Amino acid sequence: MARITGGVTTSHVPAIGAAMDLGKTDEDYWRPLFAGYERSKAWMAEQEPDVIVLVYNDHATAFSLEMIPTFAIGTGERYESADEGWGRRPVPVVEGHPDLAWHIAQSVIQDDFDLTIVNEMDVDHGLTVPLSLMFGQPDAWPCKVIPFAVNVVVYPPPSGRRCYDLGHAIRKAVESFPDDLNVQVWGTGGMSHQLQGERVGLINTEFDTEFLDRFASDPEALASIPHIDYVREAGSEGIELVMWLIMRGALAPDAKEVHRHYHVPASNTAVGHLILENPR
Ligand code: DHB
Ligand code: FE
Repeated sequence: MARITGGVTTSHVPAIGAAMDLGKTDEDYWRPLFAGYERSKAWMAEQEPDVIVLVYNDHATAFSLEMIPTFAIGTGERYESADEGWGRRPVPVVEGHPDLAWHIAQSVIQDDFDLTIVNEMDVDHGLTVPLSLMFGQPDAWPCKVIPFAVNVVVYPPPSGRRCYDLGHAIRKAVESFPDDLNVQVWGTGGMSHQLQGERVGLINTEFDTEFLDRFASDPEALASIPHIDYVREAGSEGIELVMWLIMRGALAPDAKEVHRHYHVPASNTAVGHLILENPR
């Protein structure tokens, strides 16, 4: 049977991808940010997952503002890196896992979570930057990826509770897939940041630290945070953190934190990163 062995949460700031693509990771501004991912890359090399269910948000790239699914699962064979206005990132094509993706869609939809099914789309920085942070710059991504998109761009976003419960449904789906697969679930975005308006540049380290502290041990409390508190405390784009709760719900209740990194700033964003492992 397939099993979820662990997962990753990480910010997906587009400037991080640009720094990697343009060879700037060793500059003073970026060095401390990338230093926190050295251990992560070593961990990834040990784990060798077959598939990553990668929870991210599309930033009005694949879905534009004409169609805005709250939850969407990629059932395609492959996904190109999107052109977000300055050309496609020079990263490998993302290969999907249609069989597992359709199985998750079947199981989760029958468990009352309404997913949009996406056979064709390009994937933006929300998905490709986390892959770059965790795998570096290989010629091909070393595993399959199922894109799982969440609307946190246009009001109203799904609640943290809904996301956490959806994570449980994803766990049940993966664990009922008959093939012997090592699966990870990732949650991306965050941490505190606001990219527009009067509070542009907002960073709330106290909120972020408490979120990180409670993520492994007390996710129930985090699942109760109403969306307006994310906006108030973590900024208008801090709402991306609800996607971390899909990852947390998909992991075991007693999953353990094995790595943490927090760094300010990257662009206008507080970067947060956790690795959790399920018990064997
Ligand atoms: C930026 C964009 C994002 O999508 C994000 O999550 C953080 C920062 C930016 O444009 O700086
Ligand atoms: Fe984002």
